[in-house]
Amino acid sequence: MQFSTKRSAPEMRATPCIAVGVYAGHKPSAAADALDRAARGALREVLRRGDMEGKLGATLILYRIPGIAAERVLLIGLGEEADLHEREYREATRAAVKAAQETGAGMLTLCFAEIRVGRRDATWKARQVAQVSAECAYRFDSMKSKKSDPRPLAHVELLAGARDASAVARGLRQGQAIGAGVSLAKDLGNLPGNVCTPTFLAEQARKIAKQWKLGVEVLERKDMQKLGMGSLLSVAQGSRQPPKLIVLSYAGGPKKAKPVVLVGKGITFDTGGISLKPGAEMDEMKFDMCGAASVFGALRACAEMKLKLNVVGIIPTAENMPGGAATKPGDIVTSMSGQTIEVLNTDAEGRLILCDALTYAERFEPEAVVDIATLTGACVIALGHVASGLYSNKEALARELLAAGDEAYDRAWHMPLWDDYQEQLKSNFADMANIGGRPAGSITAACFLSRYAKKFDWAHLDIAGTAWKSGKDKGATGRPVGLLTGFLMKRADKGH
Ligand code: BES
Ligand code: MN
Ligand code: ZN
Repeated sequence: MQFSTKRSAPEMRATPCIAVGVYAGHKPSAAADALDRAARGALREVLRRGDMEGKLGATLILYRIPGIAAERVLLIGLGEEADLHEREYREATRAAVKAAQETGAGMLTLCFAEIRVGRRDATWKARQVAQVSAECAYRFDSMKSKKSDPRPLAHVELLAGARDASAVARGLRQGQAIGAGVSLAKDLGNLPGNVCTPTFLAEQARKIAKQWKLGVEVLERKDMQKLGMGSLLSVAQGSRQPPKLIVLSYAGGPKKAKPVVLVGKGITFDTGGISLKPGAEMDEMKFDMCGAASVFGALRACAEMKLKLNVVGIIPTAENMPGGAATKPGDIVTSMSGQTIEVLNTDAEGRLILCDALTYAERFEPEAVVDIATLTGACVIALGHVASGLYSNKEALARELLAAGDEAYDRAWHMPLWDDYQEQLKSNFADMANIGGRPAGSITAACFLSRYAKKFDWAHLDIAGTAWKSGKDKGATGRPVGLLTGFLMKRADKGH
């Protein structure tokens, strides 16, 4: 999908389709008012008849109104003016794009830069317009023999005033890059486990690196053996698929500037291993590499936006399978850090691959490390599908990530990492156990990781509830690419 901005009076814009907002109580927005005046009251006449009350997300298409240059006028309900916040703005935009997609109009002109959304500026609004449009255009049909019809809507234009034209253009460029990152993360997440293997992810990394001029390195099993990554390797040993440790690097900042390191959990399928999961919905464990996918997406977006900072993406990837060679409950493994781990449950495998990746991150002398993982079912119970769980050993870093999540409407919630919880990881036989029992399962998983993140500022995002949707809309969401890119954009601006 293509995005552009234009400075034009709404009524003068000759476009296949122009969308304007209507507030609750039949109240036209400024752009709707301009159209109405040009059409000598024709829009108010429609509103008066009660066909468009302004309920949030309602749509009405009118054709060929004398006085208006556009072929179609799309009225979009905005809801109560006083209640119009981030969620409502995105909802109204989604309604406009979806309605336009149902018509033959190849292009939609939106008059949404003028709508007031609290303190959000024109750049934010333009960014959201591009991201929401990309979401509406997203299809995953690479595994279907019949591809879905290409949607006629190929172009979204956002009208701007003289004052905010450059801000709108900037926001559209950002939103387009972030939207493409989100789509990439969704594509990788949606691919089945028999296609998207650790080897496949390594190939994709090489492809993306070539396309976007990133550095790429792939560590093989023997390389990891040399490094002493006994924990990561123990997860992969039941599978025929060899594990990989992928390192992608984007160098947009000064050579000497320390990088932000993103570490993404890349379990391409999680059966649970010998601690086998129950059958119901086990197919969804193909999504257990969504953390890895979000790192790919964020790096792609950084490269497209040419952000002025250095970012390293580390992706430990493996398949968690039962089998004759698989790790057994009670087995003790030695991590790269030297700490020993009693594997009481082979289904708590995410932390076992992440801990070695965190230790590996030390060599990049990171400014900060953020890991992203579909880590625990307990996080889904705690926060549902709305917020990702955020943990950090550094208050300021946590605040940055929370703010980035709010701004991107890809929210996280700060969870405690108190030492009191560490006791649950005690093992009678090794330095620690890999599980902490039922209570506070998401927290004890984060506590486990914290033991491998002592040498840098670190945050952990548990995205088990937010990375994909179940049920009839089953599919990857691309979260938290929005949060991560927002965080990196702010860091690049501040010249960290
Ligand atoms: N990938 C799962 C976490 C998960 C489960 C995400 C369900 C989304 C939905 C992870 O590897 C796992 O199995 N975690 C276990 C940990 C437990 C054994 C301590 C869990 O949450 O049940
Ligand atoms: Mn598991
Ligand atoms: Zn898992």
